[in-house]
Amino acid sequence: MNICVIGTGYVGLVTGCIFADLGNEVICVDKNPDKIAMLERGEMPIYEPGLEELVKRNVEDRRLFFTTDLTEGVERSDVVFICVGTPPKDNGDPDMTYIEEAAQGIARSLNRYKVIVNKSTVPVGTGNLVREIIETNRRRAVDFDVVSNPEFLREGSAIKDTLEPDRIVIGAPNQVVAMKILELYAPLERPMIITDVASAEMIKYASNAFLATKISFANSIANICDEVGADVIQVIKGMGIDHRIGSAFLNAGLGYGGSCFPKDSSALYRTAEKVGVDFKLLKAVMDVNKEQPIRFVDRMRAAMGGSFKDKCVGILGLAFKPNTDDMRDAKSVDIIGALLGEGASVQAYDPIAIDNTKAMFPQICYTKNAYDAAEGADALVIVTEWNEFKLLNMERVKSLLKEPLLFDGRNIYDPVKMRRLGFDYHCIGRTRASFPNK
Ligand code: UGA
Repeated sequence: MNICVIGTGYVGLVTGCIFADLGNEVICVDKNPDKIAMLERGEMPIYEPGLEELVKRNVEDRRLFFTTDLTEGVERSDVVFICVGTPPKDNGDPDMTYIEEAAQGIARSLNRYKVIVNKSTVPVGTGNLVREIIETNRRRAVDFDVVSNPEFLREGSAIKDTLEPDRIVIGAPNQVVAMKILELYAPLERPMIITDVASAEMIKYASNAFLATKISFANSIANICDEVGADVIQVIKGMGIDHRIGSAFLNAGLGYGGSCFPKDSSALYRTAEKVGVDFKLLKAVMDVNKEQPIRFVDRMRAAMGGSFKDKCVGILGLAFKPNTDDMRDAKSVDIIGALLGEGASVQAYDPIAIDNTKAMFPQICYTKNAYDAAEGADALVIVTEWNEFKLLNMERVKSLLKEPLLFDGRNIYDPVKMRRLGFDYHCIGRTRASFPNK
């Protein structure tokens, strides 16, 4: 099939590559000429394991093409995927400008029947909006259908998630249209949910909001564990083994970040508000998430004698999660902001997110490795759980630090071991737990 993908962010680029790899001819469109030029040179505008090889293979086999010309892309295709960003506005609503622009562009270029598939995360009702824009602005009286096909991939494991999704959701106006999209996904042999457009749009938001709820729930339990001397890791293990609960997305830490959970939770909250539903539960989820790094900074300050003034703090991990260089809503931003604001100096290390952090915090010192971030610091903070931090020589880390003060915001170390090594070790939901002798 001939496919056009509008938008070459995480969702667009990965989706385009996978469809090309499955044997389709795919043309990826982006209005940013720098991005298209990079992709044509074989350079990736985003960091995603395995993506470069996938792009290279499909470009060489002439199944994957890049262009800034939306008309060319749309005219050549039977199916057009909209994969543009919907960044949050100040009031929590998603900014629909790029969706509207894409729909206008499709309307101008519609030359024969096409299925327009919305993959961007958009509020319920956007399928209708896209249909109306195309209907009103099309230059030829050509037929088309609009489908919702939300994306569930995670940054850092985007290719695997796209090849092996738990489910593929297709929201279509009728069975015939649904079958056209189903056919595209059939080679993946994954469970498919065929439904109406509005329900498909809601499935995406409800899923992300529910996962955010699990995380805030785990963080609230962790905060209680800290006070009562329980170990949140054991508590979550004991809960998660119940198959009705499941252990995924119950890791306590500094809270969720990234480009999706924060944005999608507030967008769903706003949708609820607009239709007169007070989604109190989701409001609490968002509040817990906002407070989690603040609580952690409060604990750090208390352990450092009540003030950060003139202290030097080492930070390990800047990205919002491991295996990405994405800094959107990263907890490092809250923590570094608080430290600098209260007079501390910061030396930070991340395997790949340093370049993206420099624009935000030009005044901090970026180190070449984790050990350099510890050297001479009054405390060391784990903000992102990169695997390489789990494997550090902690005796060496301790000898480099001015004070053996370790704040583990992601629970990556064994508290018993850290205390045995002589660290004053603080973590999330297990700081006061008394661990049975091993
Ligand atoms: C999330 C969803 O997991 C994807 O299914 C969805 O497609 C995507 O949003 C999207 O809407 O586009 P992503 O934002 O890439 O994916 O990252 P996740 O791996 O879900 O992590 C989100 C945040 O939750 C991270 O900050 C992570 O550290 C945090 N998290 C995750 C926890 O604090 N605890 C957990 O147990 C799991």
